[in-house]
Amino acid sequence: MKLLVLHGPNLNMLGKREPEQYGKVTLEEINAMLRDVARQHNVEIEIYQSNHEGALIDKIHSAIGSAHGLLLNPGALTHTSIALRDAVIASTIPTVEVHLSNIYAREPFRRASFLSDVALGVISGFREYSYVLGLQALIYHLRAASSV
Ligand code: DQA
Repeated sequence: MKLLVLHGPNLNMLGKREPEQYGKVTLEEINAMLRDVARQHNVEIEIYQSNHEGALIDKIHSAIGSAHGLLLNPGALTHTSIALRDAVIASTIPTVEVHLSNIYAREPFRRASFLSDVALGVISGFREYSYVLGLQALIYHLRAASSV
């Protein structure tokens, strides 16, 4: 099974950025946790971060036909990007949306997501553990749904 992990804008700043919202863990530490989970489940993962909407969309396009699932933290693009939503739909890649913070307990503009209704599910509010839970849920779903 091959999975793609995508981190959106400003997530390269984790560790330094608003620790009261996102904790002190760095993106590299989160990626190491995800690689561990992938290893335990015998799954291949590719991890990519970009601050650019188009680069994330290009990455989703390039994963069509090779990735079985997508773990996606769109960052602020969650609340703004119909283009990212359309890329996820066009790809038909089963997608789990994750957020470090609980977007439903923050400013009103963060409570709406352009991705949630096209995702398999959403995990929000468990800091770096949202990613771990999201990856486990994606693997569970794909194994239950098919023979990948
Ligand atoms: C975030 C939540 C978004 O609202 C914010 O813009 C981010 C991070 C999260 O992981 O909690 O960049 O996606």
